Amino acid sequence: MIEMSGKILVTGATGFVGGRLLHALTARGLKVRSLVRSPEKLREGLLPEEEVEIVKGDLLKAETLDRVLEGIEVAYYMVHSMGGRTIGENKVFAERDRSAAGNFVQAADRAGLQRIIYLGGLGETGDKLSKHLASRQEVGEILSSGRAQTTILRAPNIMGAGGAPFEMLRFLVERLPVMVCPRWIETRAQPIDIRDMVDYLLGCLREPATGGLSLDVGGPEILTYRDMMEIYSRVRGLKRIIITVPVLTPRLSTYWVNLVTPVPSGIVNPLVEGLRNEVICRENRIRELIPIKLTSFEQSICNALQEIEKGPGKLISRQSCFLPKS
Ligand SMILES: NC(=O)c1ccc[n+]([C@@H]2O[C@H](COP(=O)([O-])OP(=O)(O)OC[C@H]3O[C@@H](n4cnc5c(N)ncnc54)[C@H](OP(=O)(O)O)[C@@H]3O)[C@@H](O)[C@H]2O)c1
Repeated sequence: MIEMSGKILVTGATGFVGGRLLHALTARGLKVRSLVRSPEKLREGLLPEEEVEIVKGDLLKAETLDRVLEGIEVAYYMVHSMGGRTIGENKVFAERDRSAAGNFVQAADRAGLQRIIYLGGLGETGDKLSKHLASRQEVGEILSSGRAQTTILRAPNIMGAGGAPFEMLRFLVERLPVMVCPRWIETRAQPIDIRDMVDYLLGCLREPATGGLSLDVGGPEILTYRDMMEIYSRVRGLKRIIITVPVLTPRLSTYWVNLVTPVPSGIVNPLVEGLRNEVICRENRIRELIPIKLTSFEQSICNALQEIEKGPGKLISRQSCFLPKS
């Protein structure tokens, strides 16, 4: 039970995580406002009974933000600027994300906003960090520089239907009986199920002790990307051969992933570059602050496949999950 007198702002509600968070908040009867660039896009994804105040705005246009923050008690910051169909188009995402966060924090201070909850990226710290992960950290620092108390959740790959990490994995394994992969498939990560991620985001509202903290968030297992491909193949009953080669640059890998999957290069490229960085929790305070039962990677894959089966049926084979339902 979450009790709040004011409204909650969700930015990024037309996105993968923000959209699911929005549904979870409205399902709990909470008052939600959403800042979106395209109200039509958001309306298409809303349930008929769902009540959401929609405000058109753009984080890159500071003048659109003041009325968005009026009367808001807590704001979720669920936005990034990666995208575009080409690698070149995507070169400026870090600058855009810097401006967007700067505009937001200034508007938040003018409006006297009390709390921000930001979903950033997990990863090592230091010079070797990819541009994408470094940018996610920078956004966290900018948001924390204002007067609002900021919670930063540092999250790894979030697994769920429609999200880039799952869709990349799904299309690669579904389409390629023999996968020639770069060495980064041996990098370790701690993927988390989308439902668990949403539970943590909700838990931050419920648990005031999360205010002002930067918390690492991860799933129950540490796995290499090779492990993830193998688990996906097993769940789907597919026989796959994985061969690693020493020379496959991020750029080449991006072209390759882009050819095989529907995920645009503008998203694939920064993610592929980041695959050399381990994404593993350095601490687990979140597990005490917000105790939830975490979903196994295998179960996440099953959940995502079942959702796709129920949805528009985008799976190549109609056969879904081979594991028994839990
Ligand atoms: N997906 C993952 O596995 C993952 C993992 C770790 C952390 N995260 C973090 O989670 C957050 C959400 O990621 P996601 O995967 O849900 O991303 P997503 O599906 O690509 O959605 C991004 C959202 O940001 C919005 N947006 C972009 N630029 C904007 C602007 N200038 N003004 C207003 N809205 C803008 C987009 O709106 P439009 O619809 O108008 O484009 C969209 O709603 C990000 O901070 C990301 O770093 C995600």
